[in-house]
Amino acid sequence: MTNKTIAITGATGQFGAIALDLLKTKNADVIALVRSPEKISGVEARKFDYSKTEGQVEALKGIDTLILVSSNEIGQRSAQHKNAIESAKKAGVKHIIYTSLLGATNDNTVKSLAGEHVETEAALKSSGITYTILRNGWYTENYTSSIPAALANNAFYGSAKNGRISSALRAELAETAVNVALGEGHENKTYELAGSTSWTLTDLAAEISKQTGRNIPYVDLPAEDYAEALVQAGLDSDFAGLIAQWDVDASKGALFSEDKTLEKLLGRPTAELDVAVKQSL
Ligand SMILES: NC(=O)c1ccc[n+]([C@@H]2O[C@H](COP(=O)([O-])OP(=O)(O)OC[C@H]3O[C@@H](n4cnc5c(N)ncnc54)[C@H](OP(=O)(O)O)[C@@H]3O)[C@@H](O)[C@H]2O)c1
Repeated sequence: MTNKTIAITGATGQFGAIALDLLKTKNADVIALVRSPEKISGVEARKFDYSKTEGQVEALKGIDTLILVSSNEIGQRSAQHKNAIESAKKAGVKHIIYTSLLGATNDNTVKSLAGEHVETEAALKSSGITYTILRNGWYTENYTSSIPAALANNAFYGSAKNGRISSALRAELAETAVNVALGEGHENKTYELAGSTSWTLTDLAAEISKQTGRNIPYVDLPAEDYAEALVQAGLDSDFAGLIAQWDVDASKGALFSEDKTLEKLLGRPTAELDVAVKQSL
């Protein structure tokens, strides 16, 4: 067992909570860095807000490895992540593991998200701190969370056409981050982390139909119509527009990769689509 002290941000979020639980299971020396320490149990939790530099250096004192889980506040993330990196430098953190985006620097990527990750990666590299960049692929749950809506609508709507999606379960990507934090030889590496297999929204709809015994077709809509349907379903119009555009990006292959690094770091192939659908149902 490693005797380094590991800190993790975003530990109140879905990815971070899974990673924190795994670190606890493995008896790692771990500290959660979160906005609401009262939400964490079983390990030390220190107050840490990406947007508030005051107190950050103190919170990062004594940390060897920081798992910097990217913020979910789109538009503010470059500045937030830079704050954390600068504070980590001042506090003497030795290694930062950052959750980036699959193909962040590619021409064909999710452009609305890539910029902040590219800027963070650049800040990390120029900080001089040892880094590991985990360019996480799309969570399968981004799509399987829409299964209840598909069952209610008798169709799975989207705008991804036949774009192939090399997603992985959030838990698989979180486990990989933990393996990297506890493992050796990941210094100054950038990993493209894609699921072992890929699928289309037609495949997803077929799997939902198979497992529920119902006919749930995939219906591809123009992006504007899909965004409008999401607004009708109660989403904020900016977010609906983003989701529809992510599907358009997917239709062009932005969520696809044949890179097999994820299964190597995870120690097994990622779950097949049927497993993810079963989990969601
Ligand atoms: N690969 C993908 O498909 C995918 C999908 C969605 C998101 N992501 C990215 O991966 C990250 C982790 O995913 P997730 O599913 O765990 O997201 P999540 O459940 O939304 O969790 C986000 C975490 O970020 C924390 N956070 C937000 N703003 C903060 C701030 N100003 N200071 C400190 N902490 C802050 C939240 O803390 P609070 O509990 O205090 O709000 C929460 O712990 C996301 O934040 C996003 O960057 C990736």
